Amino acid sequence: MKKLLYIDCCIRGEQSRTKIISEAFVNVFRRDRNFSVETLELDKFPASPLGHYEYQHREALLAQGRTDDSVFDFARQFAAADLVVVAAPFWDMGIPAKLKIYFENVSVCGFTFGFDGERFSGLCNASQMVYITTRGMDIADGSVMEQASPYLYALTKFFGIDNFDMVSAYGLDVRPSEAEQAVAEARARAVSLADTMLQRC
Ligand SMILES: Cc1cc2nc3c(=O)[nH]c(=O)nc-3n(C[C@H](O)[C@H](O)[C@H](O)COP(=O)(O)O)c2cc1C
Repeated sequence: MKKLLYIDCCIRGEQSRTKIISEAFVNVFRRDRNFSVETLELDKFPASPLGHYEYQHREALLAQGRTDDSVFDFARQFAAADLVVVAAPFWDMGIPAKLKIYFENVSVCGFTFGFDGERFSGLCNASQMVYITTRGMDIADGSVMEQASPYLYALTKFFGIDNFDMVSAYGLDVRPSEAEQAVAEARARAVSLADTMLQRC
């Protein structure tokens, strides 16, 4: 059974347009008997940002070899996933802080990446990350104003995940009369991507 890790950072919950798209994508895998879906709702995520105390605590655990500590549960879970789906609205030209905090907790040497004194290497099992988002402003994929996907793409490379795909809808707040159509089109693209990925499995 393959594991899809669904990182749901759709903070507006049922009002979220991003979530309409990501649920359609993940539902394709929920219907496939070869996949199990683990959902992490980041709004309920208890982790703190990596402040002085958290950093020292984590370093001490690593130095003592206490890698079974629950501090590392999210890094362990992320590293073991076969497919990672990140759903997050576009906030302040990038990702919501809760998603950044999540990745601070996931990005741990020995779990998601390794370092041998000279080189870094990715340790994650997944071969693909799919990032699903919506933007309020007229910011197309590839715009220099779009600073969410470059960050997530860099993380996939760092973690050893070879493929990165993005499904987006944009201009939703500046063209509200067209928003429903834009979300519907992105939803269809997401389902098509999921179908293609399943055919390749
Ligand atoms: C706190 C906050 C910050 C936002 N920052 C941006 C932004 O920098 N650029 C942008 O295009 N839209 C921005 N938006 C608009 C959202 O990207 C847009 O409404 C999106 O569709 C929200 O996704 P959701 O419906 O899944 O919550 C922001 C919205 C909120 C609530």
